[in-house]
Amino acid sequence: MPDSSVIVSAAANIALIKYWGKSDQPGNQPATASLSVGLEDLRTITRVSVSETDAIIGELGEQGRARLSSFINRFREEHDIQQALNVSTENNFPTASGLASSASGFAAITLALTHLFKPEMTDLEKSQVARQGSGSAARSVYGGYVEVVLSDDSYAQPVMPAEDWPLDVLVAVVQENSKAMGSSEAMKHTAATSPVYADWIDTHKADMDIARSAIAERDFVKLADISEHSCLKMHSTMMTSRPPVLYWKPATVSIIHLAQHLRAAGTQVFFTIDAGAQVKLICAPEDTQTVVRALDAVEGISRLIKTRIGGEPRISQ
Ligand code: DP6
Repeated sequence: MPDSSVIVSAAANIALIKYWGKSDQPGNQPATASLSVGLEDLRTITRVSVSETDAIIGELGEQGRARLSSFINRFREEHDIQQALNVSTENNFPTASGLASSASGFAAITLALTHLFKPEMTDLEKSQVARQGSGSAARSVYGGYVEVVLSDDSYAQPVMPAEDWPLDVLVAVVQENSKAMGSSEAMKHTAATSPVYADWIDTHKADMDIARSAIAERDFVKLADISEHSCLKMHSTMMTSRPPVLYWKPATVSIIHLAQHLRAAGTQVFFTIDAGAQVKLICAPEDTQTVVRALDAVEGISRLIKTRIGGEPRISQ
């Protein structure tokens, strides 16, 4: 008899080569590929059970709840599922601070629904389902180093397991409240109004190729350079939008300078920033303490979350 209840823990991820922009095709198709790393300790835990009536329990906010509910309904319609579902979901990290909760959230619900109703689906197919909820969620179907491949039905695939190149990740929270504009809206606005958006699209494939080879070669400096470049290029498309989208806070800029200064002195660290003010620092484990100590001197960091590359999803009853 198939399971009637499942618990999934899916991890957030951080893109080193960013996804920013959507294609004209339906199904939340990205305009760019992307390459990310899973964050071992930043997780969404979602429980789904077949029930008498539909319910969604969790601190999602009105918009988040509507988005999750329409995702579940679309999955049920597509696969002709009649059962009512009780869904409860929570993050073990501060959602309001704009850390990537849509990635772990939509990956978790996708893995729960497919476990219960479509266990024959491959991981690739699951990533396509997750992508329809949120582009970055396609990547959270796996742990470690992951890429999104562009196609008529774009999907994610593993690049390398985390243990083949173990790196630490520090998340410096510099803004506790929610960001002004969500990424879905900001990327549409950017595509419509930034004069440098076309260059972003044109140069993206070359950035992916460099990142992939940096990972294959375990070349920290090469990965650092291309990741910071992708991050700053994405933010430059936002800053040149009209009106501009500027997520950064003074502490965001201080940490960028710190990372560059540390790396110039031989410390293996680089920064990346998503659609928000928080900075994620990727460090070689032997250098993490040096980075943590240096961050002590930066004003405006309200908390520092220490994790590592990982994030393999977990499924239990
Ligand atoms: C800056 O995956 O949140 O984090 O598909 O509209 O849900 P939707 O967008 P989302 O965008 C992520 C943007 C990013 C870069 C990245 O994660 O690749």
